[in-house]
Amino acid sequence: MRVIVLGATGEMGRRVSDLLEARGHSVGRASRSTGVDAVTGKGLAEAFAGADAVLDCLNKQTLSARKAIGFFSTTARTVTDAAHAAKVGHLICLSILNVGDPRVNSRLGYYRGKAAQEAVYRSAGVPSTVVSSAQWFELARSLLGQVRVGRIALVPRMLAQPVSAGSVATFLADVVADGHRAETDRRIAGPDQHDLSELARRIAAVEEPRTRVLSAPFLGAGIATGGLLPHAVTTIDRVRFEDWLDSQTD
Ligand SMILES: NC(=O)c1ccc[n+]([C@@H]2O[C@H](COP(=O)([O-])OP(=O)(O)OC[C@H]3O[C@@H](n4cnc5c(N)ncnc54)[C@H](OP(=O)(O)O)[C@@H]3O)[C@@H](O)[C@H]2O)c1
Repeated sequence: MRVIVLGATGEMGRRVSDLLEARGHSVGRASRSTGVDAVTGKGLAEAFAGADAVLDCLNKQTLSARKAIGFFSTTARTVTDAAHAAKVGHLICLSILNVGDPRVNSRLGYYRGKAAQEAVYRSAGVPSTVVSSAQWFELARSLLGQVRVGRIALVPRMLAQPVSAGSVATFLADVVADGHRAETDRRIAGPDQHDLSELARRIAAVEEPRTRVLSAPFLGAGIATGGLLPHAVTTIDRVRFEDWLDSQTD
């Protein structure tokens, strides 16, 4: 199968591209650094020619609703239009559990951008699957670096059922191999509920013990109290946070 991975230099795009190649697929790794710009459309027609599937792992790190909605809705439209023109058989968009829920996205512009992206994929004229993942364990580590005051890291309280990025890459590769099915939404979460600020504290204790982690519900009550938890049919992965954390120091 010929699969184009958009955002292939990123955290998830790189993992899933490696996995698809290891399974024997022909992978086209696309990002601006390989000459493909999903905002302007530059290079998409050439990249999509002869592709069986396109996997969107694009990202823009921003908290601004205007920027997030602009980026995710523009790239989704550009990608779905180019896929339609190239007669691509299956589009897969990687999203986040419950981002369309106003309890969750009211104070998080990034999630409103992801909701706009999902809406474009759901109405695309190409068979599409939206894969919604819970937050990754790796997100807890990156939250540690986002708001720092000296040795203090401020981390938002986020009650979620997080999952390892490696398990999400495997799930995505399986969705690609399955092709398009009647159901257009697939979901994955980890086995246990955790507050991500607590996970950040446990990661810091191992990886940067001089850092003190303070948690606060500054992304809103919906995120701190259960709005991110899986509510619909969801594949539950087996990898627990404790085992993931041990594997990081192996
Ligand atoms: N972190 C989580 O817990 C989590 C959970 C569920 C879902 N997700 C979703 O997973 C997706 C991937 O996240 P990630 O952390 O793997 O992303 P990432 O590491 O930030 O990588 C983003 C990728 O997008 C590419 N890119 C950005 N702008 C582009 C453009 N205009 N044209 C072409 N390529 C562009 C980047 O490459 P260049 O800069 O070279 O262009 C890079 O390869 C996101 O949509 C995110 O919402 C994340």
